[in-house]
Amino acid sequence: MNSPTILLREEIRKSGPISFARFMELALYAPGCGYYERHPIIGRGGDFFTSVSVGMVFGELLAFQFAQWFARMETPPEKFQIVEAGAHDGQLALDILSWWQRQRPQLEIEYCLVEPSPARRAAQEEKLRHKFSNVRWVEGFEQLGGVCGVIFSNELLDAMPVHVLRWGATGRRWLERLVDFQCGEFVWQITEPSPGLVEFLPEVAEEMAAVLPDEFSVEVSPATVRWWTSAAKNLERGKLLALDYGWESSSGLRPERAEGTLRAYERHRVSSDVLSKPGSRDITAHVDFSVVRRAGERRGLKTDFFARQSVFLTEIFRETCVPGSGLEDWSTARVRQFQTLTHPEHLGHRFHALLQSR
Ligand SMILES: C[S@@+](CC[C@H](N)C(=O)[O-])C[C@H]1O[C@@H](n2cnc3c(N)ncnc32)[C@H](O)[C@@H]1O
Repeated sequence: MNSPTILLREEIRKSGPISFARFMELALYAPGCGYYERHPIIGRGGDFFTSVSVGMVFGELLAFQFAQWFARMETPPEKFQIVEAGAHDGQLALDILSWWQRQRPQLEIEYCLVEPSPARRAAQEEKLRHKFSNVRWVEGFEQLGGVCGVIFSNELLDAMPVHVLRWGATGRRWLERLVDFQCGEFVWQITEPSPGLVEFLPEVAEEMAAVLPDEFSVEVSPATVRWWTSAAKNLERGKLLALDYGWESSSGLRPERAEGTLRAYERHRVSSDVLSKPGSRDITAHVDFSVVRRAGERRGLKTDFFARQSVFLTEIFRETCVPGSGLEDWSTARVRQFQTLTHPEHLGHRFHALLQSR
């Protein structure tokens, strides 16, 4: 049986050391055996939590917000589309659609999941197909055409493959870390960045170049930029939203980030050793929102909002505080969910929302 380790070893044996982006791609998504192909549980019984695993309040707040955007469109489209990518087991779609069915049945929508993996699509279909008739699946944006409505993702961009760069203080330039296989284990190698990466190298001003410590690490993700650009291109009219944890490279390279943000997660334990046990652990890196934002603006989108998830959700919450909003029930359990989503010690601080529109 295949495993990411076998596939990676074979690829390195044939063509030499590979980029970390390729390592991450196979570790997480190798058909039939990558980490996300094996239906990992998200939440208490799995390796990590997301806002979705906190409970249905997250999905309901998003559903309410989408309905507000829909209702406020000056010329509403015939069919408002909600497009979700990175839907994993379909739980967030279930939370959003269930709220919509109960609270806004008069607003007709089409819910579309962008899902390249047949295995995950099957899991999502099982959860959604028999409950809702307005759901459809596509493998990629090219099958979708122009979208009028919302394209969104939660914790998708942090799961996209990244290249790892290290600062070489002697030559005052970025170098790329590759992955090799030696003496029975995956090991790092350092080399010149591949030509395709040149446009993604973070700019370092002269004064900074003089003091930036040797081996200062950053991750860059051409895959994320390509994905966002493609989403932006397909947005005919409406909003493009990402909720994820990340930082802004435009705010500068900070000492606390010297080790980079690449991490592996297993049973809620975090490790910076990302090369061991490929396929059995999640691997993530912070999203560089400056780069993502620029990619959308280059495609003609306007940036409406960028702030912490706590601010984004609190603004939605404020709007729900009117009779008839469909979100008036704030039992103790639901308030607790909201606090987990917004409290700085839980998900409120590290997570951000980027919202662009056309
Ligand atoms: C961290 S999980 C997030 C799951 C879910 N959105 C949540 O918040 O609980 C990331 C998901 O994105 C999926 N994914 C990765 N690349 C994708 C792509 N290009 N298109 C669609 N989904 C993708 C992964 O398979 C995985 O299920």
